[in-house]
Amino acid sequence: MICVRRARPDDAPGIAAVHVAAWRSAYAGILDEAYLAKLSETRLAAFYTRAILDRRDGHAVFVATAGGQDQPGDAPGPEAAIVGFASGGRARRRGLAEGEVETLYVLDDFRERAIGRRLMRAMAAHLRVIGCGSALVWVLAENPARYFYAHLGGKEAMTDMVTVAGRPVKQTAFTWPSIEALLSATAQVKES
Ligand SMILES: CC(C)(COP(=O)(O)OP(=O)(O)OC[C@H]1O[C@@H](n2cnc3c(N)ncnc32)[C@H](O)[C@@H]1OP(=O)(O)O)[C@@H](O)C(=O)NCCC(=O)NCCS
Repeated sequence: MICVRRARPDDAPGIAAVHVAAWRSAYAGILDEAYLAKLSETRLAAFYTRAILDRRDGHAVFVATAGGQDQPGDAPGPEAAIVGFASGGRARRRGLAEGEVETLYVLDDFRERAIGRRLMRAMAAHLRVIGCGSALVWVLAENPARYFYAHLGGKEAMTDMVTVAGRPVKQTAFTWPSIEALLSATAQVKES
């Protein structure tokens, strides 16, 4: 069974492993290959430990876990493993929306199983709890994930340039002027 819950500090290594796998897959051809090759699970685990503990600006991290029976392969273990995560809080940049989904990553083998939708819903519910009436997410313009956000009703609000790994890349902000609209768009959960 897939579960979505608030992250605990001991989830940090699992989140870091998903970060590295998802970045190498999603950003191949978009970000610098040497940078992607050098991503360090150890350093990212330390980063996510701090992110989970630091609740300033309403920041929160959610994880999706899959039990052994959900894992691909012939001999899955019994342990639930982290297969996706999302994080965010009050928007880092004022003006576009009150709340921001800063990260959202699902392992390739677990895509199209409503995990991204459930993580977005967890974030939307959290943003509403901390008093945000609207939400935004930044996505690299070349990333097909932009169509996922459009599918959930996000509207393109602006584009700008951001430097990632020393390379300028275009990014697009998708916004939901009403947090209720994002909650509605993520309400139907179909799990397979
Ligand atoms: C984007 C991402 C999080 C989506 O997660 P997911 O678990 O595969 O998505 P879901 O299964 O919850 O999909 C929900 C709906 O969106 C649709 N969808 C998913 N990815 C889509 C895409 N790239 N384009 C268009 N629609 C998409 C699904 O078909 C589904 O539609 P339905 O409910 O009408 O059947 C996942 O593909 C991912 O991790 N991508 C790589 C990392 C990344 O780019 N993250 C975003 C960084 S800003």
